[in-house]
Amino acid sequence: MSSSFTVSSAAARADQGSAPIIAMKDVQKWYGPFHALKNINLEVRRGERIVLCGPSGSGKSTLVRCINQLESVQSGHILVDGHEVVGASARTLDVVRRTVGMVFQQFNLFPHLTVLENCMLAPLKTGKMSKAQARETALRLLERVHIRSQAEKYPAQLSGGQQQRVAIARALCMEPTVMLFDEPTSALDPEMVKEVLDTMIELAGDGVTMICVTHEMGFARAVADRVIFMADGEIVESGPPLTFFDAPRHERTRAFLGQILAHHNATEHAI
Ligand SMILES: Nc1ncnc2c1ncn2[C@@H]1O[C@H](COP(=O)(O)OP(=O)(O)O)[C@@H](O)[C@H]1O
Ligand SMILES: [Mg+2]
Repeated sequence: MSSSFTVSSAAARADQGSAPIIAMKDVQKWYGPFHALKNINLEVRRGERIVLCGPSGSGKSTLVRCINQLESVQSGHILVDGHEVVGASARTLDVVRRTVGMVFQQFNLFPHLTVLENCMLAPLKTGKMSKAQARETALRLLERVHIRSQAEKYPAQLSGGQQQRVAIARALCMEPTVMLFDEPTSALDPEMVKEVLDTMIELAGDGVTMICVTHEMGFARAVADRVIFMADGEIVESGPPLTFFDAPRHERTRAFLGQILAHHNATEHAI
């Protein structure tokens, strides 16, 4: 597997002048009395690749889960491809969830289904594809993540890295416009991080719109158009990787990057 890819700017890839694929405006989210997202404003263009980082508990998972309404918000607006998801009907949410694919830290594959069945499930259940189409799509995407030969196995027979690549293929089977990744390599043994990052780098090279929560700063430098730093439920700082890493403006960003760097230096790293 190669991690070679061509970098084109988001502006070049983005559909110039078109509405953002995701727009969050003045979003507020509470868990009971706890203010988890504080006035989030974020626009993501088609083809843009965003890395979201920040300390544990800063609201990264909450933010990405609000985009496909795995979490609801108390106020503000979230538009996905022009559809308002805040307070949306079940029908609109179905449309939105087809637009947005998600990959979790804990792969969340169904243990009683084979790799192929895991990938075919959503396209069949939603009536998006015939069985033959779903099978063909699943095999094509398993090939894309270099794991087609494992199609008949069950998740427990695969390594963590292989399972996560299946989870990526499964999400792609719904032909999403946007992919959300929530710390996709955090549960992996170090030797498996690279194969998953390489898969994601390949996807990025294909122009998939991505929001990726990760602390893999090598990945961020390599593929992100924009890195966003969150702390205490707020977006503190955001910018292209070069500026973000080499000239962070906020003290909290600097402190966070210092910690990440110390951690990376202390552990052998994949990318
Ligand atoms: N379901 C929940 N109920 C109550 N508090 C929650 C829930 N989910 C997350 N939180 C709290 O919201 C904050 C942000 O959580 P999260 O979005 O998971 O942060 P991150 O992904 O950055 O680690 C944390 O303080 C967390 O404890
Ligand atoms: Mg999280």
